[in-house]
Parts: sequence; structure tokens; C-alpha cells
Amino acid sequence: MTIQKRVLSGVQPTGALHLGNYLGSIKNFIPLQNQYADLSALYCVVDQHAITVMQNPDDLRKNVRIVAAAFIAAGVNPKKSIIFHQSGVPAHAQMAWVLNCTARMGWLNRMTQFKEKAGKNKENASVGLFTYPILMAADILCYHATHIPVGADQKQHIELARDIAVRFNLEHAKSDFFPLPEPVFMESATRVMSLRDGTKKMSKSDESDYSRINLTDDDDVIAVKFRKAKTDILDMPQTVTDLDNRPDVKNLYVLYAAMTNQSLDDVVIHFGVKNFSALKSELADITIALVAPMRTEMAKILSDTDYIDNILRDGAGRADEIARPIMGKTYDIMGFL
Ligand code: TYM
Repeated sequence: MTIQKRVLSGVQPTGALHLGNYLGSIKNFIPLQNQYADLSALYCVVDQHAITVMQNPDDLRKNVRIVAAAFIAAGVNPKKSIIFHQSGVPAHAQMAWVLNCTARMGWLNRMTQFKEKAGKNKENASVGLFTYPILMAADILCYHATHIPVGADQKQHIELARDIAVRFNLEHAKSDFFPLPEPVFMESATRVMSLRDGTKKMSKSDESDYSRINLTDDDDVIAVKFRKAKTDILDMPQTVTDLDNRPDVKNLYVLYAAMTNQSLDDVVIHFGVKNFSALKSELADITIALVAPMRTEMAKILSDTDYIDNILRDGAGRADEIARPIMGKTYDIMGFL
């Protein structure tokens, strides 16, 4: 079987998108959409993933639109790519059930994200939170997607999707029915860290809003957040190795490199013996230059709910056309009439 290249990624509609989401993943959607223009890249707002923890329905509806608007504001073209919501295509949930019966308990027990998210409250976590990586495998495999632009925190989930695909191919399909998906990482910024604690990733769920730059933050807020960002008491780094064991400072240099498309070496040279306040002020300026146009565009898009809902509906229809025959073949392989 010749394997077609197909791009797919997903973002959860669970609160404000941040710079980590953009630099680690969404930014990569744009070159990939152009590279595989003939095949249509699929960019999914994963609302079914969001309900693994309690959601307010009105907030969920709003957040789905916000993520779709962020895709478009970041440069995803809804005519070239397919922007859609996961619940709009039945194949995701259908495929998830089949793959639930392929994946092994032991594989899921190894998933670090469940341990982080469930914390001490494991017994009270939803079953959905535990089996979440299987739904993610279904998102990918129900389109035979091969290229998955994500941040480093999703690596283990994509490896699981590969394990599931291998086992299904061996046990059921007796062929290479599912292609093996590969993660596509950004060169820099695969893991953007919290501005308050450089050992923790920047996250939507961090209690402190100062830990992240939201794509909806206004210019003053961005400047303040960088001003308050944690650094250390050592001298300015003179080489990249001077950044070792300095997570807070390294994160700021990585952010600068990612946003200016420079190497870390060049950024270290650029700041030389200046000081952290110069670094923070330049960082704020380039972040504002990046975020402000996206913020304005998102607000414009979101002011027209019909426009965004039509894009999602149209996208779900086009995604369904790709997934339906793959789902049909999967049912056939399983022996469903
Ligand atoms: P989510 O919604 O947590 O994050 C969306 C994307 O942003 C990336 N990301 C980061 N990258 C760098 N630094 C950070 N601090 C950072 N925080 C988040 C994530 O890696 C992700 O690429 N399980 C996924 C959503 C998903 C999915 C899929 C992705 C569901 N089905 C199928 C790809 C393919 C998630 O929770 O992402």
C-alpha cells in the first residue's frame, strides 16, 4: 500500500490558548498546510477530549469557537486546510471504541500525563481521562494521518498511537492498514516553560496567570508578565552551555529564539553582557508584535459567530468524507455487518 502523507493535529478548547500552544504546535500548522496543500491538513478542536474533566456547556461552546478563531488568526486557511470540531465527525468516537479493545491496560498505565492530571485523586478521575490517549490515537488513525505537529508533551501519546496501529495491523488487519504516525516538532520551543517556574511547562491549567502569555492578553499585560518573569542572580550567559541548569533564564532565551527564528547561539550573542531587564523588554516587544495582530484578528472573527460556525460545520463535513470510508473498512476488518 502506498502511504499518502496526511497532516492532523488537535487542540483542546479548555481555556485561553497561550504562547506555548502557538510556538509548540499551531505555528507549525501553516508551513505544513502549504506543504501538503493537495491533501488537506486537518486541524481539529478536540471538544470530546475536553469533557474528560467537567465543563460548563456554554463555556465549552465559546472555547471551541475561540480555538478555531485562533487557528485562522495564526494563518490556517480554512479553504486550504480543514478546520473542524471533533464531535462533528462520528468516526472519532467510533474508532476510539475499536481501539479501546486493541490497546492494553499496561500501555495506558504508563502514560505520564494521566498521572500528572489525575494527581492524588486517581480513584475519582473520569474513565475518559484515563482512556484519553486512545481517543487521541483514534483522532489520528481515523484519517490515516501520518504527520502530527505537536509540542514535546504529546510525544508519549503519539508513540502509543503507533503501538496501537502496529498491534491492530498485526492482529486484525494482517496488513499495513494503519500507517504509523510521526510527530512533527518545531526546531525550538517544543516545550515552552512557565514564566514563574522554568521547570514546569507553560499550561492553560496553571493557577497563576503570570505563568503564561495568553493569545488574548493585551500589550500592557504582556509587558508586565515579562517584567515579573523569574530569572536568577547569575551573570548573563555568554555561551549556550551557560544556560545549563538555569531553566528560568533558558526559557526566556528559547522564547526569544523561537519568536525571532534565530538560533540560541545568536540570541546569547545578541544579548551579550546586557542585562535581564533588556532581555525582558525586548521579549515583550517581539511578543506584542506577534500577539497583537492575532488578538485583533481573533476578536474580529469571533464577533461573527455564524462565520466561525459555518467554517466548523463545513470542515466537519469534509473531514467526515475522509474518515467515513476508513471507518467502514475498519468495521469490515472487525467483522461488523
Ligand atoms: P493541548 O490542547 O494541551 O495543547 C495543544 C498543543 O499545544 C502544545 N503545547 C505546548 N507546546 C510547547 N510548550 C508548551 N508549554 C505547550 N503546551 C501545549 C501541545 O503539545 C499540543 O500540540 N492531547 C492534545 C490534543 C490532541 C491532539 C490529538 C494532538 C487531541 N487529539 C491528535 C494531535 C493529534 C492536547 O491535549 O493538546
